[in-house]
Amino acid sequence: MMNNDLSTAFTELVTRRRSVRGFLPTAVEQPLLERVFELAQRSPSNCNTQPWQVYVASGEVVEALRRQLPEAMMSGHMELDFPFDGVYQGEYKCRQHDAAAQLYQAMGIERGDKAGRGEAFMRNFHFFGAPHVAFLFLHQDFAMREAADLGMYAQNLMLSLSAHGLASCPMTALSFHSGIVRAALDVPDDYKLLFGIALGYEDEQCAANRCRVGRAPLSEAVHFRR
Ligand SMILES: Cc1cc2nc3c(=O)[nH]c(=O)nc-3n(C[C@H](O)[C@H](O)[C@H](O)COP(=O)(O)O)c2cc1C
Repeated sequence: MMNNDLSTAFTELVTRRRSVRGFLPTAVEQPLLERVFELAQRSPSNCNTQPWQVYVASGEVVEALRRQLPEAMMSGHMELDFPFDGVYQGEYKCRQHDAAAQLYQAMGIERGDKAGRGEAFMRNFHFFGAPHVAFLFLHQDFAMREAADLGMYAQNLMLSLSAHGLASCPMTALSFHSGIVRAALDVPDDYKLLFGIALGYEDEQCAANRCRVGRAPLSEAVHFRR
């Protein structure tokens, strides 16, 4: 492929990927899943340690979790391996609010509709109907650098999914009940859950999928110095 074609293909791929919050129940064929995950293995990492450990829940395993996680959430139970240490302030807080407002608007949920927002939030724990969920774990000896490696892996995985006609949603909500997930997937106790990625075929009729959030201008993020 010529460089121009590659750049066009990359631009299309990066633009096409977005968080999808409504999936068809159709399972993805195992050979296609393996091809997609193979490409994500190409991700860079500190000293090529490849610290990601990925457990992909499908079939009965994903259905059991789809029952267990909403129940756990409703009962008020939470068990995060990585606490919420970060604080969103200033423009970061504004962006968070804007993204939520755009999602609720796409779903036709009014600003004051607390029940509607609550229901929309609970859809996280049903994986937005996705037939597969990848759970991303790090060994407990690792720290922030390796978490960054996991982030790069996740982005490559999501781009790989997009390139193969599949959709995804990265989800911190799926780390709220790490003990339940570890037990369901038979993960050793010394592996800690950072987040999950729901994946499958997009349900194009789902209202939530009309949401397209924008990005801040380059000048707010990238600082060229000469
Ligand atoms: C690590 C990570 C965790 C996220 N967790 C959630 C989540 O729990 N639920 C959700 O609906 N979206 C979640 N998102 C999706 C973000 O809201 C989304 O990436 C952001 O609004 C930008 O939109 P886009 O992905 O459609 O470009 C998460 C994204 C990332 C990268």
